[in-house]
Amino acid sequence: MTMPDWSDPNPPAAFPILRPAAPPPADATGDATGLGDIDRSGGRVSVDEKRMINCRADVNQLLPLKYKWAWEKYLSACNNHWMPTEVSMQADISLWKSRDGLTEDERRAIKRNLGFFTASESLVANNIVLAIYRHLTNPECRQYLLRQAFEEAVHTHTFQYIVESLGLDEGELFNMYREVPSITDKAAWALKYTQTLDDPTFETGTPQADQKFLRDLVAFYVVFEGMWFYTGFAQILSLGRRNKMVGIAEQYQYILRDESIHLNFGIDVINQIRHENPHLWTAQFQDEVRGMLKEAAALEAAYGRDTMPRGFLGLNAALCEQYMHFITNRRCAQLGLAFVFGEAENPFPWMSETMDLKKEKNFFETRVIEYQNGGTLAWD
Ligand SMILES: [Fe+2]
Ligand SMILES: [Fe+2]
Repeated sequence: MTMPDWSDPNPPAAFPILRPAAPPPADATGDATGLGDIDRSGGRVSVDEKRMINCRADVNQLLPLKYKWAWEKYLSACNNHWMPTEVSMQADISLWKSRDGLTEDERRAIKRNLGFFTASESLVANNIVLAIYRHLTNPECRQYLLRQAFEEAVHTHTFQYIVESLGLDEGELFNMYREVPSITDKAAWALKYTQTLDDPTFETGTPQADQKFLRDLVAFYVVFEGMWFYTGFAQILSLGRRNKMVGIAEQYQYILRDESIHLNFGIDVINQIRHENPHLWTAQFQDEVRGMLKEAAALEAAYGRDTMPRGFLGLNAALCEQYMHFITNRRCAQLGLAFVFGEAENPFPWMSETMDLKKEKNFFETRVIEYQNGGTLAWD
């Protein structure tokens, strides 16, 4: 069994299989949503007619597959099925209720971490279902989006289960994205990009509109799931490796595994759209995307200072900021963009050992293994 290399939290996604983009066939018919009137005289879909966006071929015909990378991610995601209630919370409950098991700094960081994730999972899910799905005109990608949407529901369930298990104040946690400025700033930054698409009259098909769609993909897949979640993972895994909040740490391992596929799917989608629509990926647009990533890293640094004013367990705001620079540069590389920051080393190589050991011990011995279909656990 090949274990992933956690010292590199996000190995670059396999670059999508690129084929020369042929012009759309003149006689193609159909509509982008798949809910229009049935075209009784329309021909069968051929692979060459399929497109990521602005496709006029029938989106209700999954086969023949064009983007095998999307289908493979769907299969990997299904093989990774898990539920939060399979993880025991007893040790976490004892520690949380003990008077001196956790410092005040640790408690604050845990609560803010949970508060960030609770709303974030819903924002990501809403963006998939209400903004992305409609405009991504490819059935194999939609198949993956449906799976991802379910996984986001499982993640939201995880936070409900944690809140219930530890007896946390649900109003406090679920409202942090409105009430804690450093969390609100991140959510508001991302929401701008989905709000543009939320307009019922919005349609792709012009360079300006298609770039709006790409910005939303960058904001949610690359920034939200691919950058901001990683500070959160590091915080909880740092506790887990010191044998604190081990149940939550195990759940975060599973979430991280799911999110790793979400991120890589998003990267593949963006790169495939780039390839099929090179006129969208102008030098100016690339600069704009790099600017988005830089802004996002600054928002994350502010969140780090807010959640870890004094640091704990070898983590502090400065190290998290360095980590975010490292992650941001990796995202640039995955999108074929010039680095935003100077060379940044990964300050948390310990994530590798912690995650591999725990995953081996817990993951293979619990009933999650029963979901395994093809025996594949690799998710990169
Ligand atoms: Fe998620
Ligand atoms: Fe996700």
